[in-house]
Amino acid sequence: MAILVTGGAGFIGSNFVLEWFAKEREPVVVLDKLTYAGNAENLSAVFSDARLTFVRGDIGDRALVGSLLKDHSVRAVLNFAAESHVDRSILGPGEFIQTNMVGTFELLEAVRAYWGDLDATARGEFRFLHVSTDEVYGSLGPEDPAFTERHQYQPNSPYSASKAASDHLVRAYHHTYGIPVLTTNCSNNYGPYHFPEKLIPLMILNALAGKPLPIYGDGTNVRDWLYVTDHCAAIRAVLAGGRPGETYNVGGRNEMTNLEVVRTLCSILDELKPKAAGASYWEQVQFVKDRPGHDRRYAIDASFIERELGWVPAETFETGIRKTVQWYLSHSEWVQGVLSGSYREWVATQYGA
Ligand code: NAD
Ligand code: DAU
Repeated sequence: MAILVTGGAGFIGSNFVLEWFAKEREPVVVLDKLTYAGNAENLSAVFSDARLTFVRGDIGDRALVGSLLKDHSVRAVLNFAAESHVDRSILGPGEFIQTNMVGTFELLEAVRAYWGDLDATARGEFRFLHVSTDEVYGSLGPEDPAFTERHQYQPNSPYSASKAASDHLVRAYHHTYGIPVLTTNCSNNYGPYHFPEKLIPLMILNALAGKPLPIYGDGTNVRDWLYVTDHCAAIRAVLAGGRPGETYNVGGRNEMTNLEVVRTLCSILDELKPKAAGASYWEQVQFVKDRPGHDRRYAIDASFIERELGWVPAETFETGIRKTVQWYLSHSEWVQGVLSGSYREWVATQYGA
């Protein structure tokens, strides 16, 4: 028996796999296409672990997924694989439609065929856990209550629309075919191995490189931040105890404006890596053109998962953000590999042209 983790070389997926091996004994099959966002080196600490099988491939390859499910007697699929960056979805939505919608459909079809051939006990115990986002709920006003699981879907970007479509497919495969699915809708994550196209790692690395810190619009948009290992713990809790067909909102009750986040990052960097002559990293801030259709505010009401499964985050924003800055300061090799693009050489070495 094993679990199949799709997108396991990305930011959250790799944190999940590293945590899984630290806490569980069960083997893991990672299926990852290794797009620009996939970095197999994120998993280097467990590459020699015999419990890991790493396969480069697409969730949209139904035959490949079907054979992985059978060959490894997979008892649960955790679907992290996605195109995940909102700005890229605005520049070009095609890949988002392909992976997040068509890819999830093909993955579900492979699972449906495999699951249908299992005996009744194995069918009942099987789980398909779909990792989704709070962005499917759209944008909140300043005084609106936080998103519950019953909030209407109102996605605003091609990214969130493609994730919403995948959530609906997952739901339909439970309702129509009876596949035991679970969906998690989580708020903004941060922590180690975060690709530096997203706000927090971009600001840390630009600050250290003496580059501008680009804040969209007036910087008052609000996000609800969660340290990535707390998200991983929530996913393990949902996998172990979640009710099939149910969705669980996951968040850290850490609502902050982008200005507050960048100010915090600059002051931690001022302390840990002071600039010459008492200058502050904050002086590198530049206000730039806003993101088209930029959602104002996200906030998650996590009371359902707290009540049902006893999950609570271990980190506050203060502890998590400090750990994150320290991680980037002490992992210069990983940072250099990502910035120079050399992390992609692993793919060439392993798979040839
Ligand atoms: P990421 O972009 O860092 O990683 C995505 C991974 O999926 C990469 O390793 C990539 O190579 C892989 N991938 C992409 N297309 C694939 C395909 N067709 N087949 C197989 N693998 C493919 O993303 P992330 O930030 O780690 O997010 C993981 C999941 O969590 C996504 O589904 C995302 O929507 C969701 N999520 C992210 C956040 C966040 O703040 N980052 C919050 C809530 C939910
Ligand atoms: O809410 C969960 C979502 O969080 C996930 O589903 C997405 O995969 C993930 O990328 C993230 O989406 P956001 O758009 O909220 O994250 P991002 O880091 O791109 O931006 C965070 C905020 O910072 C947002 O309001 C835009 C702003 N921003 C971002 C960048 C990259 C800037 O002001 N400047 C920037 O350069």
